[in-house]
Amino acid sequence: MLSQQQLKQQAADAALAFVEEVAAPDVVIGVGTGSTADLFIDGLAAYRGRIRGTVASSERSAARLAGHGLAVFDLNDVASMPIYVDGADEIDDHLHMIKGGGGALTREKIVASVAERFICIADESKLVENLGAFPLPVEVITMAREAVARALRLLGGQPRLRAGFTTDNGNVILDVHGIRIAEPKGLEKVINDIPGVVTCGLFALRGADVALLATQNGVRRLD
Ligand code: 5RP
Repeated sequence: MLSQQQLKQQAADAALAFVEEVAAPDVVIGVGTGSTADLFIDGLAAYRGRIRGTVASSERSAARLAGHGLAVFDLNDVASMPIYVDGADEIDDHLHMIKGGGGALTREKIVASVAERFICIADESKLVENLGAFPLPVEVITMAREAVARALRLLGGQPRLRAGFTTDNGNVILDVHGIRIAEPKGLEKVINDIPGVVTCGLFALRGADVALLATQNGVRRLD
């Protein structure tokens, strides 16, 4: 029986096949955040010298990439990326996701938006029928915390401030429990439209293009 850590490793290793496909001296790879993304970063180290570098979705990932000697570029200096590789907190079979457990959702969404393909790497426990058991992270400008919390309650959720946490962008996170996510794309738009919301952790308008889900019987690919 493989542990969750071993499954994450398998998913991260499987994503390296996508790097292999696109590796070239002018290529920049988009890199996500979290424990599965960390394992991908460690594997990506072998591509130092074969790719131009990376764009990171968090300070944490940037530090790990730099620690491996991989160049980390400002997104403003990169016009395109063939792939963005990142984990997820939940993913459904439409490849809609909840992300932001690590608090990096806004930069993740931005970097992913520039990439041609989003490759989601996760262990199979992240695959769900309906999104929403995992509390939905919402990044909020600090002064709007209570106003946004009231709006989220009107949508049926119970927002809780993530204690002692500030995002890389200097904002706070409200983790929304119990919200019904019947239409992920619609809800993503509605929450993102609340004044004071930077972005919500629903990745449905732009979901993953490929999911590599590690199971006890190998890596399952969903497209
Ligand atoms: C960070 C994220 C991560 O991708 C998500 O939390 C999954 O993390 P892990 O790979 O540690 O399970 O969205 O903001």
